[in-house]
Formats: sequence, C-alpha cells, structure tokens
Amino acid sequence: MSILFTPRKIGALVIKNRFVHSGTGECMAAEAGGMTDMLVKRYQTLAKGEVGLIVTGYMSVHPLGRAMRHQTGIHSDEFIPGLEKLARGVHENGGRVLFQLVHAGRQTTSQVIGQKPAGPSAMRRDPTYLIKPRALTGKEIREIIQSYKDSAKRAVAAGADGIHISAAGGYLINQFLSPYHNNRKDEWGGSSQNRFRLLKEIVLAIKEVQPSEAPLVVKISTDDHTPGPGVTLNQALEHAAWLAGLGVNGIEVASGNLLYNHMTMWHGEVPTREIVRGLPGWQKPLAWLKMKTMEGKHDLKNPWNLPAAREIRKVVGDTPLFLVGGLREVRQMEEILNEGSADFIQMCRPFIREPFLVKKIQEGKTMKAACINCNRCLGAIVNGMPIACYHKGLPKKTE
Ligand SMILES: Cc1cc2nc3c(=O)[nH]c(=O)nc-3n(C[C@H](O)[C@H](O)[C@H](O)COP(=O)(O)O)c2cc1C
Ligand code: SF4
Repeated sequence: MSILFTPRKIGALVIKNRFVHSGTGECMAAEAGGMTDMLVKRYQTLAKGEVGLIVTGYMSVHPLGRAMRHQTGIHSDEFIPGLEKLARGVHENGGRVLFQLVHAGRQTTSQVIGQKPAGPSAMRRDPTYLIKPRALTGKEIREIIQSYKDSAKRAVAAGADGIHISAAGGYLINQFLSPYHNNRKDEWGGSSQNRFRLLKEIVLAIKEVQPSEAPLVVKISTDDHTPGPGVTLNQALEHAAWLAGLGVNGIEVASGNLLYNHMTMWHGEVPTREIVRGLPGWQKPLAWLKMKTMEGKHDLKNPWNLPAAREIRKVVGDTPLFLVGGLREVRQMEEILNEGSADFIQMCRPFIREPFLVKKIQEGKTMKAACINCNRCLGAIVNGMPIACYHKGLPKKTE
C-alpha cells in the first residue's frame, strides 16, 4: 500500500491518509461573513472525495482583521450555527476539519474594514493596496490575542476537530514576525523573541480553550520574499523550533507574501487579465504594469518549499510537518513522505479543480493532479466570484 494511504496522528486525532486540503479562501460566504449552502457543500464534497484532513479557507477573527468581503467570519457568536453546519457536513462524510484563523493586519483595505488598516508599525506604503498602515497600540494587540482565543472557543463550539493559524501569507502574525514590517521598540518588536511574542501568546491562548486532544497547526513562512529582509529560513528555523517547544501539533511549511509579489505564494502563470479586471479603474494601469513584470518569472517546476521543509525537519523532532506548494505528482509525494521531509501532503489548487483527486488516486485512476496552475481561480476571487476551476476563462457576465 502506498504510504499516502497510511494513517498518521496529529495530536490525538487520527488522519486516515496523508492528504490535506490547504487553506483556500473561498469567497463563498455572505458578504459580511455568514455561512452559505455553497460553502457547506464545498466542504461536504471535499470530505466525500476522501481528503484526509481539511483546513478551511481563512476565517476572520476580528471585524478589523477581515481580508476581503465574502470571507468566512468567526469573529462573532452569531456565526456559530453556520460554522456548525460546515463541520457537520465534513463529519457526516467521514472527514476531519481544522478551522483556519486569520487576522489580516495591514493586508486589507479601508473599503473592507471601514477604516485605515493597522499593522505592527506605521511604515512602508505597499505596492498593491498603496496603503501605509497605522501602528497597533499595545491595548489593540491584547484585544487581537483575545479575539483569536474567542474565535478558537467558537470553533470548538461549532465542532471543528482543531485549529489552524496562518503565521504566513503576509497576514498579521507574519507582519509581526518580519523585521520588514515590524520596527516596534516595545515588547512586540526589536528582537526575534519579541517579534515571535504575538504568535506565542496566540498559541498559548488557544491552547487554554481547546480540548487537550484537539490539534493546533501553524502555517509558517520560510521566506517572505519582501524587497528587504523579512522572515528568512534562518528565522523560520527558530520559529519552527519554538513552536515545537510550545507543543503545537503540526507545522505547515510555506513561503511568499501577497502585498509585494503574490506569485511567490503559489507560482504558475500570472493571471494578469483576470486580476486587473477585478480592480477599481484607478488601480488598473499600475497593476497591469506590475503584473507584466512578474510574467514568466514564477513558473511552477518543483515543490518550492521542499528544501526549506528538509531543514525544518531537523529542528522540530517528531512534530508533524505539512508541505504545501506545487505538489502534483503521486510518485514525488511518496518520495517526500518516505524520505521523512514531510508527514502530510497539502494541496490547494489541485482540489479546486478535482475535489475527488484523492479518491481517483486511491482507485488507481490518476497519478497526477490535473490543475495546470493557470491561476484563474485566483483571478476569480479577486473579482468577488466564488472559488472554482476557471481554467477555460472567467465567465463574461461579471465584466
Ligand atoms: C485561490 C487561492 C486562495 C488561497 N487562500 C488561502 C487561505 O485562505 N489560507 C491559506 O493559508 N492559504 C491560502 N492560499 C495558499 C494555498 O493554501 C497554498 O499555500 C498555495 O496555493 C500553494 O499550494 P498549491 O500549489 O497546492 O496551490 C490560497 C491560494 C489560492 C490559489
Ligand atoms: S483555475 Fe483550475 S487549473 Fe487553473 S490554477 Fe485554478 S484550479 Fe488550477
């Protein structure tokens, strides 16, 4: 039997195979974050497709931490009944689900949150949203830690099997970890330990409210790809070791950032036309020029986070590692698991195109994901359309 179909535990939770659905913003919730039938159905389908563990798309822990409209919300008790439906939909179909908790920090716009976005420091106007954020106060930082804790309680109440936190992707925790975004001189900045403090306190706060058998997994950045030094592999090794020391039940190895070059997060074709079409008129010319400079520079050749995962493995002992990014071929997935560089194979775009991919592999019907990395699915969510495989192009009616 292929190692891909052997069970493995995270914490006390047994995962029936090594396939994990990676966090995928669905753009399927109601505008303010409420549950929809479409969203429940998406996760029911993935569970039917035999995905061993599903990490949901990012859920906003705080009204000022929302990254986009139609993002699933977990920042209020009113969302619990809807989230319960999602968890039930997965469980009734034999799956397991971690809710992904995210605060966007500076990586959002005033159109989404109704005020100027805030990050660790008031520095650097970004080239995507053209925003120079304001700095969070110490009191606001404490409120954000509490919002993660409250959201984790809601996830438990809704029946999630565990929690997943993104400390990657350029969102708030990643901003605090990065010297490029964080020049604070207080307890939240100035040294590696201080920049790590937000993540540490969030992990500890969540552990207080999770049942001891429920897993907590953290997605980390191993290279931010910001124009100046951000999180690099050396710091990621520290972060991973510290997280293992805190007793997290899994670490997902990722890289890249949205604000400076989103292609570093997913690689493949640059969906210039699709993304530019979703932007306000005044942003289109600049975005077009920027995207043109990216074209052809991020082709997906290999799983780009594998070299970093091999290094992380050396510092985290037995903590399960989740590898994401560019995994497409069954033989290669098996090699990676057999060499011990990762314990779980995590995919995002392949499951958008083929929610039944795992089942097909199990039945011997395919050895390779069909996703062609055209990134039109990404273009779709920028246009406010629900996630789906749009490799033949976005529907004209939304133009
Ligand atoms: C449309 C789209 C939405 C994404 N949304 C999220 C998200 O909500 N949370 C997250 O951690 N990563 C998100 N990602 C990043 C993926 O989880 C993954 O790290 C990346 O796409 C590389 O994996 P892949 O090659 O299997 O697609 C998203 C990626 C895409 C393409
Ligand atoms: S649109 Fe479809 S084929 Fe293209 S990257 Fe997305 S899932 Fe893959």
